[in-house]
Amino acid sequence: MRSTICARCRPLIGQARRQILRPISQQQKRCESTSSTSDATTNDQPKTTEKKKKRNVVFSGIQPTGIPHLGNYLGALRQWKKLQDDVEASGSGDKLLFSVVDLHAITVPQEASILRLRRREMMAALLAIGLDPEKGSTIFFQSSVPQHTELMWILSCTASMGYLGRMTQWKSKLAVQNHATDIDEIAMTNLKLGLFSYPVLQAADVLVHRATHVPVGEDQRQHLEFARECATNFNHTFSNILVPPETVTTPSPRVMSLVQPTQKMSKSTPNHRSRILITSTSNEIRQRIYGAVTDSEDAITYEPTRRPGVSNLLELLSQCGPALADGTRRSPEELGNEFNGRMWKDLKNAVADAVVAELEGVRERYHEFLNRKGGKWIDEIEAEGAEAARRSAEATMKLVRYAVGLGRKS
Ligand code: TYM
Repeated sequence: MRSTICARCRPLIGQARRQILRPISQQQKRCESTSSTSDATTNDQPKTTEKKKKRNVVFSGIQPTGIPHLGNYLGALRQWKKLQDDVEASGSGDKLLFSVVDLHAITVPQEASILRLRRREMMAALLAIGLDPEKGSTIFFQSSVPQHTELMWILSCTASMGYLGRMTQWKSKLAVQNHATDIDEIAMTNLKLGLFSYPVLQAADVLVHRATHVPVGEDQRQHLEFARECATNFNHTFSNILVPPETVTTPSPRVMSLVQPTQKMSKSTPNHRSRILITSTSNEIRQRIYGAVTDSEDAITYEPTRRPGVSNLLELLSQCGPALADGTRRSPEELGNEFNGRMWKDLKNAVADAVVAELEGVRERYHEFLNRKGGKWIDEIEAEGAEAARRSAEATMKLVRYAVGLGRKS
């Protein structure tokens, strides 16, 4: 398929896209608007003398609400690592920022001691999957960079309540929390402002670093549409400073639950058998895959709508099985044809082997990193990342404050 990505975005995505990123329709238009916006602004990035070459900026985040599962990994984290490796290999100097979004986590009740632990565990998990400050990744806690919340407030002053009210994630969280379906009635009694304005903070996370690319799973798409809207609103109201970011998804943007394959795999579902964690042992991985709910038909076919269970397994095999020589992966359709006529246990064995191989070493590295230097190593990495992230965010906030009338020109 021919690329529709503009020349500016191509170096960043390059080889990563062949293996992980899927073609994104209509990208040309967004890339153009991104370029023109950022060209109009002062940037904290070094200026080259010849052609004005702007660095791409990648930003993404994950909540510290438990060890990431296979959905987080295939939908987002593996791609973060791939982008890091590509930036390192190309020497493009593109900026990579990955945040443990602890302020988002407190939009639902958290016990303080557990949250403190989860934040560190998430740092260890990100390092264990291969993110590495020495390879250019800046990893930090969202709450260490106050500019995120400062910009959130400013964006809140132009954000539409109507738009926020239509966010599906907010509606569904509200419904799940209250075990009820009547959103209006619950909203009247139990509405928490933080949960409602969650997408404004997410927009600020991305916009404060003037990110050009945001690699996420499918469930974040609507939030990033909103972030683009926030950037456009701000630029129209004040000055052309913020960059409408581009959403980048993987070929597995929605990994499904292993026990309820019509629902996405999730950290919050109580049934542990529904997910595989990136730190699961090989025995646990095999048990989860062997226990995965499929259906009563004998044949193995890839039909995501009619047969979500078997299709989810074929997608896992496609993504975790070995890549072909040209870096591409066998499609779930092809694998469905190959396994058609064979036994279920053949397919489940193949999926289990592939997932075990994909996650090999993550568990060991996770435990080693969490305890390295008696736990201080994680703190040091975070402190360095936070300092770099504050510099990045402050460069934007100086422009933003002045544009709004809150600061001096500097
Ligand atoms: P979170 O913590 O729920 O998930 C982190 C990333 O994992 C992806 N993901 C999945 N991908 C495929 N299949 C699944 N079953 C699956 N479950 C989760 C998510 O899409 C996400 O990319 N609001 C965000 C965190 C956030 C953020 C940001 C992301 C805050 N600020 C700014 C990007 C940019 C969240 O709750 O992700």
